[in-house]
Amino acid sequence: MLGFGTVGQGAYRMLADNREAIQRKVGTALEVVRIGVRDPEKPRPVDPELVTTDLESIVSDPAIDVVLELMGGVAPAGSLIEAALAGGKHVVTANKELIAKQGSRLLRIAAEQGLDLHFEAAVGGGIPLIQPLKHQLAGNDVLKLMGILNGTTNYILTKMAEEGAEFQTALEQAQAAGFAEADPKSDVEGYDAQYKLAILCSIAFNREVPPDNVHREGIDAITRRDMQFAELLGFRIKLLGIAESIGDRILARVHPTLVPKEHPLADVRGVYNAVWVQGDFVGDVMFSGKGAGGAPTASAVVGDLIDVCRNIRIGGAGNLGPFEAGSAAVPIEDLRTRFYLRLIVKDRPKTLGCIATIFGNCDISLSAMEMRVIDSGRNLGEIVFLTHPCLESSFHRAVKAIKNLHMVESVANWLRVEQ
Ligand code: NAP
Ligand code: HSE
Repeated sequence: MLGFGTVGQGAYRMLADNREAIQRKVGTALEVVRIGVRDPEKPRPVDPELVTTDLESIVSDPAIDVVLELMGGVAPAGSLIEAALAGGKHVVTANKELIAKQGSRLLRIAAEQGLDLHFEAAVGGGIPLIQPLKHQLAGNDVLKLMGILNGTTNYILTKMAEEGAEFQTALEQAQAAGFAEADPKSDVEGYDAQYKLAILCSIAFNREVPPDNVHREGIDAITRRDMQFAELLGFRIKLLGIAESIGDRILARVHPTLVPKEHPLADVRGVYNAVWVQGDFVGDVMFSGKGAGGAPTASAVVGDLIDVCRNIRIGGAGNLGPFEAGSAAVPIEDLRTRFYLRLIVKDRPKTLGCIATIFGNCDISLSAMEMRVIDSGRNLGEIVFLTHPCLESSFHRAVKAIKNLHMVESVANWLRVEQ
């Protein structure tokens, strides 16, 4: 094992607690022989003889059959996996950043060596997603997929919406529970979900989708005020990953989204993730479960490990092989969707008329509006608009013009709305 943090310790505990059942399923006993870590002084619930800071010695040890990479980050995890594969070892990893950025190259090396490189835990924590996409759904032409792909941000948004929690307090709780990445900016700013969506797209659409081809926005600009307006208008705010194949191009995006309360994703709370996939033959399929945390993620890691061990016993590899050459990304400006816009305005005659005229001039039709006086002394009001579907580029043209109106104090926030 490379790494013995939240996921490493979860996997170690599962292998110990379910040892006999796993042995019966695999047909042989599994033994953890070395554990690589960074800090030799940290107290750990494991025989100290197993622990080393010399990770190279693990990936080059000829007695080891399988390496579990549970340390995270691109370096040195990537070169250690490469060394393990070069030495004939199968690899299981939970590392979404590495697979999103270098998965195709590493899968090619594994395929050339006839080895397994499995990464079920990289997307959706304990939810089986990669294997169903690789196998049971592989005959379908996937048309669209959409989901909540990050447990930390869903936990934060749920705590803010349901308990009025402060953003920072909810984030600290998510960190204490072991949900967050080593640098939680990755969760909050949408990078983690971007990596996961890139991996899902590469498998579902069978074309390499680099993370840079996935439009990314985080939840850092979401306020309790937006949540209150969303609630009033019949929505909840979720960080969604959405991808669709448009001709031979892919439009993939991660951003906070207003989701109607009756939508199945609106009820996915706390650390839970859910992914909806639409295939041409299967129709709609929904996967859900705990998207982060030591125990659920261990379930995915150990499941992959059992799969690898069964392959070793039958003398084959169940590898995916490298993704096919990538395709162009559809720019986000070409997206057609509904929008939410919250403005702080001077509460005086003609304000609403001037704003509505700009929307009309940009070919945008409005579907709902809410207005509140927020400071009668200073004549300040707050207006929220919902639009009908329109082009993203037209919406931004309208917002730019609205911002320049002298009666508009500020554009407080804007968000996309999913049907
Ligand atoms: P973590 O708690 O921070 O643990 C990381 C472990 O790796 C620690 O044992 C650390 O050593 C070791 N490590 C990190 N960098 C190292 C280096 N350069 N050299 C040697 N050892 C190093 O992280 P985690 O939450 O378990 O996450 C591990 C991986 O699983 C990441 O790729 C993450 O994205 C992925 N993942 C996490 C979750 C989750 O819910 N946490 C879910 C799915 C996937 P020390 O103990 O000495 O610090
Ligand atoms: N930090 C990640 C999350 C861990 O919160 O979803 C699971 O990949």
